[in-house]
Amino acid sequence: MSCVVAVVGATGVVGREMLRTLEQRNFPATEVRALASPRSAGRRIPFRGGEIEVQPVSPEAFEGVRFALFSAGAAASREIGPVAASKGAVVIDNSSAWRMDPEVPLVVPEVNMAAAKHRPRGIIANPNCSTIQMVVALKPLHDAAKITHVVVSTYQATSGKGHAAMEELIAQTTEVGAGKGATVKVFPGQIVGNLLMDWKPGPDDYSEEELKMVNETRKIMGDANMGVSPTTVRVPVITSHSESVHVQFARPMFAEEAKRLLEHAPGVVLVSSAYAPGNHPQPIHVAGTDAVYVGRVRNDLAVKGAINMWIVADNLRKGAALNAVQIAEELLKTEPAA
Ligand SMILES: NC(=O)c1ccc[n+]([C@@H]2O[C@H](COP(=O)([O-])OP(=O)(O)OC[C@H]3O[C@@H](n4cnc5c(N)ncnc54)[C@H](OP(=O)(O)O)[C@@H]3O)[C@@H](O)[C@H]2O)c1
Repeated sequence: MSCVVAVVGATGVVGREMLRTLEQRNFPATEVRALASPRSAGRRIPFRGGEIEVQPVSPEAFEGVRFALFSAGAAASREIGPVAASKGAVVIDNSSAWRMDPEVPLVVPEVNMAAAKHRPRGIIANPNCSTIQMVVALKPLHDAAKITHVVVSTYQATSGKGHAAMEELIAQTTEVGAGKGATVKVFPGQIVGNLLMDWKPGPDDYSEEELKMVNETRKIMGDANMGVSPTTVRVPVITSHSESVHVQFARPMFAEEAKRLLEHAPGVVLVSSAYAPGNHPQPIHVAGTDAVYVGRVRNDLAVKGAINMWIVADNLRKGAALNAVQIAEELLKTEPAA
């Protein structure tokens, strides 16, 4: 049976990771189309031992497509997503364009796959990368003891801002290492040897990224009252976001129980050893892997029955490409003949 997949934004960091993920997981695609802007038309991208040629996005490019995986920015998703859906494709969109639309499910397979069934627009949204890894770890704890409040500080990699941002960190590292000044184009300042908050401003002095974490967490977890207090920070890391997370519950939850729950949670790798220097999930070890790594699970010293933990995941894989491909894989199981 034919299963054509279109990857929109195939030349970007997430798009390329999508192609890698489809290949590595042997996704049963009969054809994969690599789509991007007219700038990239004709470029060739390695895939399954050969190459596929990048085509410019057009309505015709979605003819016969079963899954259209979008990672081309919110403007492109808003404009082209509905076109792909009107051609019969299930659109799985990585941008922020549709995430909070009440007619678009916001899905992390380990948490709320059932939501993907109801998609009146033909679009399923992939959450923000920081939110995905957090909710994968929160889900088993919420099911057991109902989370009332989460305080999260993020340490987000440069690849989360796209290809050009990742390249800027690499270029600045060379410049600063050679004793030169850092050239700043993508970030609002030097990122090497520094921390930045580079997201657009939102209401109430929060960044848009912080508000995404609040709103998306509530939507995915199905709890509009869950307290979420975020601070998002960009760090000079290439890939993998890290998060320091404090969690409070409707009834006391202690570290031992949390570890037991996390040990068996889908998509989670628990690093359960006691604190020792360097003995924690680290971005460079996690990059290129699929799981959400949770370590440093410990009782809060001031709030009895609350826990603290450290969560690390590859923002390009579980935070984007892998989550989208997993959604498509799950749909193939439940809707095989669509
Ligand atoms: N990076 C992450 O960790 C991450 C995580 C979750 C979600 N996302 C989301 O994924 C999307 C892509 O991010 P990225 O990090 O991969 O960015 P990126 O590296 O800058 O790549 C952007 C891609 O979008 C394509 N594109 C841009 N405008 C287009 C248009 N009008 N029509 C067709 N294609 C167009 C680009 O094609 P050209 O090469 O032809 O310009 C390129 O393939 C964004 O919406 C982002 O918010 C990213």
